[in-house]
Amino acid sequence: MNQNDRFDPEDHPELEQTDFDRMTAKGVSRRNFLRGGAAAMGLFLAASPLAQAVAAATRSESSKLMGFKAVAASTADSFVVPEGYVAKPLISWGDPIIKGAPAFDESGTQNAAAQAGQFGDNTDGMSLFPLSEDRALLAVNNEYTNYEYLFAHGGQQDLTADEVKKSQAAHGVSIFEIRRNAKGEWQVDPASDYNRRITAYTPMELTGPVAGHALMKTAADAKGTRALGTFNNCANGETPWGTYLTCEENFHKYFGSAEDEVDLPARDKRYGLKAGNRGYQWYRHDERFDLAKHPNEPHRFGWVVEIDPMDPNATPKKRTALGRFKHENAALTIDNNGHVVVYLGDDERGEHLYKFVSKGKYNANDKAANRDLLEEGTLYVARFSANDGEIKGQGEWVELTHGKNGLTAANGFADQAEVLIFAREAATQVGATTMDRPEWVAVHPDNKAVFCTLTNNKNRGKEGQPVGGPNPRAKNNYGQILRWWPHNGDHTDSRFDWDLFAIAGNPTVAEGLYAGSDNINADNMFNSPDGIGFDKTGRLWIQTDGKYSNEGEFAGMGNNQMLCADPESGEIRRFATGPIACEITGLTFSPDQRSVFIGVQHPGEKGAPSHFPAGGNSKPRSTIMVVQREDGGIIGA
Ligand code: FEO
Ligand code: CA
Ligand code: CA
Repeated sequence: MNQNDRFDPEDHPELEQTDFDRMTAKGVSRRNFLRGGAAAMGLFLAASPLAQAVAAATRSESSKLMGFKAVAASTADSFVVPEGYVAKPLISWGDPIIKGAPAFDESGTQNAAAQAGQFGDNTDGMSLFPLSEDRALLAVNNEYTNYEYLFAHGGQQDLTADEVKKSQAAHGVSIFEIRRNAKGEWQVDPASDYNRRITAYTPMELTGPVAGHALMKTAADAKGTRALGTFNNCANGETPWGTYLTCEENFHKYFGSAEDEVDLPARDKRYGLKAGNRGYQWYRHDERFDLAKHPNEPHRFGWVVEIDPMDPNATPKKRTALGRFKHENAALTIDNNGHVVVYLGDDERGEHLYKFVSKGKYNANDKAANRDLLEEGTLYVARFSANDGEIKGQGEWVELTHGKNGLTAANGFADQAEVLIFAREAATQVGATTMDRPEWVAVHPDNKAVFCTLTNNKNRGKEGQPVGGPNPRAKNNYGQILRWWPHNGDHTDSRFDWDLFAIAGNPTVAEGLYAGSDNINADNMFNSPDGIGFDKTGRLWIQTDGKYSNEGEFAGMGNNQMLCADPESGEIRRFATGPIACEITGLTFSPDQRSVFIGVQHPGEKGAPSHFPAGGNSKPRSTIMVVQREDGGIIGA
């Protein structure tokens, strides 16, 4: 979601010359940060459109991973896939998934109880859990909701108690069974006993070092161990022991107060918490969201939550050892020694990139023994350095453990719980690198390289956010994709090497680094990379949550989209484009890699003229698409 960076027409700062542009002018090519043959060749190519086309054609031949024909940028109100592919809606916001729930009614007058039995709004990260060859569970985040569509009054009135509850029920997670029929089409089974809605008021357990801490105790939970609900569930992760991880991102927006002024500590303000009416209005009828009355309640959000999708009665567990910030996703891998390593982005301008390493080890032969591996471990934050004159370099993971690296009582951290609850402040204390909004992280299937989208940062270059390292452009409106390799191929190693896999840009209107890296051209350009994931073969899939004005700096980029990249050759090819004013976010594959599920979030936001997916005069609805090949082949091949 782009809540941090909504499309403000005045929010198009002029491009500035940066140190790196000046370097380029001195003869250091903007292309030379790419590894391998394509990069070496790039050194000889000027940045003219012709040269770009030549480079693109050459790279195209070099990619053996991708066999589809690129789709053009689009401003149509449809979901476009390559020739030979078909895309169909699987489920849309409001479709019933719990027995007895009513069908969707687009009037906006359905009540909270109806929404609590229906697919939540604004689909985001999702994972597929196979039950058999033709049956699976999908666990899907419902990040937020658009009041202009949720309510008949469009959110222009004070909400009633039931409307607050309906809004809360549109958030959270939806878990439902899907089945593949004889024609090979996936369909939702709305009557499955597995189906479940998790909302902003589902009881959850607080686990790990923060559970029971004084800062977690509230009037309703004197022990500080039971929270109600999860919301603003952005992206996700999954574990090898079969659980789903949902990540709480912009939780601050749901808190407010009847009073205009509330005295909050700076460490709370760092998360964006503030008094007054914040739009969602939950505090009007659910008192725990009133900051003046319950200042500890926001400490119970901003966590990664672990859910067992196979047991509809299981209590979700908030894993506090992974730190509290505006979590994007949770990219989990197992290192050579069996430790569970989770990479985590904090999506806000100038915030940080984190890594968690479990204390215990994964045991592939004893699934039950793995259940609480995320309860205890060590959290780290990334610090980057760059080689002279290059956009690549080294990095280190700095430990966020009380008593180390200045995380002491004298510096304001009484104990480990405070380090985790105020992880942002702890990261600053240890000198972590400020990043251009870390979004999703994905670990390559070879388990050696890790990728992270840095979506954009208009504040780069301002005080406290210097240009340099993996954030090489001031007023960065396009974003980049960071890549790193842990030393010795060991994810628990404290050192890594990094470069940028791609710098998004617009070669048709900009020069230097704002034109983008070598692998960006007029045919594949995009802005604001956000969702990423690898398929089993190692294709990197990239989704965008960017500006879709198709004008000015963004001319020629069209609607938000999904692209495919070859990590070896660097080639990037557009795979799909979404409808008007949507974001593309969330992806998961069937185990045979012949179906991919792709999320279309907030089509028609802010009243933009979308009627996706039903067309006609219908209300636009967040929707999961299933994409397959007409010949039944592997997606992307
Ligand atoms: Fe929910 Fe950072 O995107
Ligand atoms: Ca996102
Ligand atoms: Ca985003």
